[in-house]
Amino acid sequence: MPSTLDNRSAATDTAPTAPPDTPPAPTAEHPRVALVSGAARGIGAAVAAELHATGALVALLDRDDEGVRRTAFALDPTGRTALPLAADVSDTPALRAAVARVTEHWRAPDILVNNAALSVPASIWDVREDEWDTVMAVNLRGVLQLTRLCAPAMRDRGWGRVVNVTSLAGQQGGRLMGPHYSASKAGILVLTKIFARELAGHGVTVNAVAPAVIETPVMDGLGAEERAAMSRAIPVGRLGQPAEVAALAAYLASDAAGYVTGATFDINGGSFMR
Ligand SMILES: NC(=O)c1ccc[n+]([C@@H]2O[C@H](COP(=O)([O-])OP(=O)(O)OC[C@H]3O[C@@H](n4cnc5c(N)ncnc54)[C@H](O)[C@@H]3O)[C@@H](O)[C@H]2O)c1
Repeated sequence: MPSTLDNRSAATDTAPTAPPDTPPAPTAEHPRVALVSGAARGIGAAVAAELHATGALVALLDRDDEGVRRTAFALDPTGRTALPLAADVSDTPALRAAVARVTEHWRAPDILVNNAALSVPASIWDVREDEWDTVMAVNLRGVLQLTRLCAPAMRDRGWGRVVNVTSLAGQQGGRLMGPHYSASKAGILVLTKIFARELAGHGVTVNAVAPAVIETPVMDGLGAEERAAMSRAIPVGRLGQPAEVAALAAYLASDAAGYVTGATFDINGGSFMR
């Protein structure tokens, strides 16, 4: 477990400096550098692929070492534009080492996508304390720490994009994935706004995407009947695709989205309309 002091150093190591007047634009020699957590599969892998397709150099972070190597290799077998990083987002020293590796390899990330998460289905009456703590450490503290490790360089550079992956469960108190999962995703909505306020004056935007029922490996356990019932309950009439979430995340990570910050974008087939 990281100590309080350890956590504090992550936040205060990097005192604010004035951003440059003209933030650097990406060029062929200096493309954007993106870091995507939970990138071995599912939505994270789709986001990594989409950012890579836009010309970014992409660091793929996941606790699944073999999986993330495979996904990075699929993007670029030469390894020049896709870098696999094995780390658990609940392990702050490992995150610090991973960000340092990206910085040495290319430069500090311009774009961070906080996507890694886990769920442990349980009812609010019987969720265990250790499970609660684990889910919070991965899903919520991981976002806090990785953002604190990456955002100062974005702020100093005067350009940055942070995209946090939350969930409809965090907006509506969904029970399916566990109360700790939903509470952690609700926490991300608040962290998104706090970081957005902190960084808005420095060319760094922080937004969230809130998907629901996206066809990733977490859905593999569903039978055909369950899948059909789920689809019927969604106004659009089908499950979402990881590439659809990736397209939204890539927009939020683009130059075009510079006036969007502190926002949450629903991507749920119409399941929740504000
Ligand atoms: N699939 C959906 O329907 C859905 C709906 C709402 C929100 N989401 C959110 O989208 C994101 C991705 O979901 P998915 O369906 O692609 O999940 P997934 O389980 O398919 O992929 C998650 C990835 O995160 C990695 N990961 C898990 N814990 C980690 C840790 N501690 N450190 C580093 N990596 C870790 C896993 O190894 C895996 O590669 C999550 O934040 C999830 O909460 C998904």
